Amino acid sequence: MTHKLAILPGDGIGPDIVAEARKVLDALAADHGLALELEEAPVGGAAYDDSGHPLPDATLELARAADAVLLGAVGGPQWEALDYSVRPERALLGLRKELGLFANLRPAQVFPELAGASALKPEVVSGIDIMVVRELTGGIYFGEPRGVEELGDGRRRGVNTLVYDSDEIERIAQVAFDIAGKRSGRVCSVDKANVLESTELWREVMEQVSTGYPGVELSHMYVDNAAMQLVREPKQFDVVVTTNMFGDILSDEASMLTGSIGLLPSASLNQEGGGMYEPIHGSAPDIAGTGQANPLATILSVAMMLRYSLDQGELAERVEQAVSRVLADGWRTADIAGAGERVASTGEMGGAVVAALRG
Ligand code: IPM
Ligand code: MG
Repeated sequence: MTHKLAILPGDGIGPDIVAEARKVLDALAADHGLALELEEAPVGGAAYDDSGHPLPDATLELARAADAVLLGAVGGPQWEALDYSVRPERALLGLRKELGLFANLRPAQVFPELAGASALKPEVVSGIDIMVVRELTGGIYFGEPRGVEELGDGRRRGVNTLVYDSDEIERIAQVAFDIAGKRSGRVCSVDKANVLESTELWREVMEQVSTGYPGVELSHMYVDNAAMQLVREPKQFDVVVTTNMFGDILSDEASMLTGSIGLLPSASLNQEGGGMYEPIHGSAPDIAGTGQANPLATILSVAMMLRYSLDQGELAERVEQAVSRVLADGWRTADIAGAGERVASTGEMGGAVVAALRG
């Protein structure tokens, strides 16, 4: 069976890191008979420059028709003054919404070799294994009304709306509980139920859904406390399920436990098992094309793609093991290199992973 993949490199370091992920896919195809059909399309600022829209119809159609989407990153300073409707970020939000990718999985694991690369003490972070499950197609990112309006007296008003329907909360809860059932069986739901009614409902629905999962233990935490606990005692967390915006913020924070945001992959899944895979970091335009980007988050996103959309769990593990191997062998890109350590380029790091896969 041939898997059709849509490859959307995007902007900034997007093309740099996606090129390394493609090397890994090519190696898997050559060595393990994985039948892949890859097609690239522009997205984000690159697409805007090309066609006047960050998510051209042809790109969306390609993504819809694919078994999985691999995305690099979007955005950059040259597009920041554009109207919101055509900003590169709209492409990401459009893909998430159009493909129904409501469940965003963002694992944060500390590789033993990199415990010293974290800004936190090694004993605080070593061994952490957190799965942030972020709701991705609802909440304040998509709620209506939204916009900036003139009040008529010279003042203006900016509005966004935090809204969740119970069925949206139910389905993300089910994803979190299912995942927790395969891990250590704990879910911490993060909300702001002491202030926001929409997340009071979130908490209630989480409780309801949890009754169907007797083997999973549910706890709740307010988001401000969760932000603190993540750096105070991160090992207390297993699966963290939360809203779109809280998940955006907490997953960046969680990435710092691991040493670099350049290491964190993500999967965005829909009800049908389709998915989009991307590093959680941005397009880092300042280092685009310089060979300084870390391709590991994207390569680890390929592993998630193999596991969740292509039903190739064994190959996923091989990729993850290859990444562990190169780190154990001392390969370091600039973001994770300690003083005096040799710095590998983006391409060298990708090449080292391929070599480890084949070794
Ligand atoms: C992320 C990013 C996006 C988000 C931006 C680029 C729109 O920060 O995937 O975490 O806020 O969701
Ligand atoms: Mg983010």
